[in-house]
Amino acid sequence: MARSLNRRTFAGTSVALAASLPLMRASAQDATPAANAEAELEIFSWWTTAGEAKGLEQLFLAFSEQYPDVEIINAAVAGGAGSNAQVALQTRLSGGEPPDSWQSHPGKELYSLYVEPGYTLAITALWEAQGWLDAYPQGLIDQVTFDGDQYLVPVGVHRGNVMFYNKQVLADNGLEVGEELTVDQYTQMATTLADAGIPALALGSQDSFAAPQLFENILLGQLGPEGYSGLWDFTTPWDGEEVTKSIETFGQMLEHVNDDHPSLTWDAAMDKVIAGECAFTSMGDWAWGHAVSNGAEEQIGYVTHAGTAGGFVAVVDGFTLPVDPPHPTNAESWLKTVGSAEAQTAFAPFKGAIPARTDVDTSGFNDYMQWSASDFAEAEVVASMAHGAAASPQHRLSIFDATVFFLADGDVASYQEQLALAAEDAQANQ
Ligand code: GAL
Repeated sequence: MARSLNRRTFAGTSVALAASLPLMRASAQDATPAANAEAELEIFSWWTTAGEAKGLEQLFLAFSEQYPDVEIINAAVAGGAGSNAQVALQTRLSGGEPPDSWQSHPGKELYSLYVEPGYTLAITALWEAQGWLDAYPQGLIDQVTFDGDQYLVPVGVHRGNVMFYNKQVLADNGLEVGEELTVDQYTQMATTLADAGIPALALGSQDSFAAPQLFENILLGQLGPEGYSGLWDFTTPWDGEEVTKSIETFGQMLEHVNDDHPSLTWDAAMDKVIAGECAFTSMGDWAWGHAVSNGAEEQIGYVTHAGTAGGFVAVVDGFTLPVDPPHPTNAESWLKTVGSAEAQTAFAPFKGAIPARTDVDTSGFNDYMQWSASDFAEAEVVASMAHGAAASPQHRLSIFDATVFFLADGDVASYQEQLALAAEDAQANQ
C-alpha cells in the first residue's frame, strides 16, 4: 500500500505523455497495486520540458516496441538539472521504494548519491553481455565504473559550454558571430546590445544550476581544459589569479543579463532568446532540443561559450539499476533499450544530445549534432560541476550557495573566499 501511495505522489508531477503513448500513464491514480509485478516499468527522471519530454518519449517508444505489454509509468519530477527530482528520489530510496530505474549523471554524483550508499546494483555482467565495453568511449566507461564494476548505462552526451543566439537580433545590431567567439568579442557585443536596450545574455537563475554553469564555462575559458579540470582534483588553486579573473568576467557578464532572471528557469531564458528579447544564452544543448521542439532552430545560431573553443564540457545522462527494483526483468530490459544504438539515435535529436555510444551512424544527424559529435571526438572533454560529474554533491552545493550570494552582491573577494573554503572542505572530505 505504501508503495502505491508513493507512486501516486510522484506520478502526479509527471509529464502528460499518455496521450501519445497508450501504454503510458502520466498519473498513477488508476494504478492497481495488486497488478502483476512485471506488468509495469516505472522510470524516474527530471525530463519535463518540451525537448526533454520528447526525448524521453522516444526512449519509451523504443522500449514499447520490444515490450508492448509493459505499461510505462513516467515518474518525472520537474526542475532543471534534477534539483527537485534528486531530493524526491532520495526520500524514496531511503524509504526502500525505488523506481525501476532513474536518471543520473556519471562521476561523483553517481558514486556519492547512489553507489556508495548502496542504492544501485553493479551491472557489469549486463555491460559485458551487451558488448557495451566496445561501444562506449573509454572516458565515459571510466566515469561509470567504481572498483571495477559498472553502475550506469549512458544514453546521451550533452555539451554544456554552448552559447545560443538569436541571429536576427545580432544582424539588426550589425553583429556577427564567426566559428569561434572570444571573451573580448562577446564583451564588445554586450556593450553594443546594451546601447540598443537589449540584454546580451538571457539567464534563468531560478534554476539553481544555471548561474554556476555559466561560471564553470567562464572558468574553462580562463583556465583552459587542464587548469579547469585541476579545480576538481584540487591541483589548480581556487585562491589564484586565474579564478579571480574568472569571477571578474562572471561579474561583467552579469551586468548584461535580463532583470527577471531570478524568476525564470533555463527554458524560459531560452524562450527569451527565441523571442528576440535577449541576444544570447549560455546553456547546455538541451536548449537546442528546446529550440527544435519549438520549431525555432532556423532563428538560432550556436557557438562554443566565449573563450572555450577546443573544450567540451560533457554532461552525460544515463540510467541505473536499483537494488531490489519493483520489476526486475523490466528494469533490466529498460537498460538494454537505453543502451541500444537505435534508442540513442532516436532520443538524441529531440534532446539536443549526441548518442553516448560511438558506434552509431552519424550521417543522418542534423547540423547541430554533426558539430557536437565532431567536437566531442576532437576537443578536450572535461566534466561538469554544475551537472554533478566533476565535484561531490556537497562541494557542488557549496558552490551553488556561494553563487547565490555573488548574484546578489557581486563581491569578487568574498565569492573567491567562499569558493576556496568550499574546495578546502571538499578536499578534506574526499
Ligand atoms: C541536466 C541533464 C540534461 C537536462 C538538463 C536540464 O542535468 O543532464 O539532460 O535535462 O539538466 O534539466
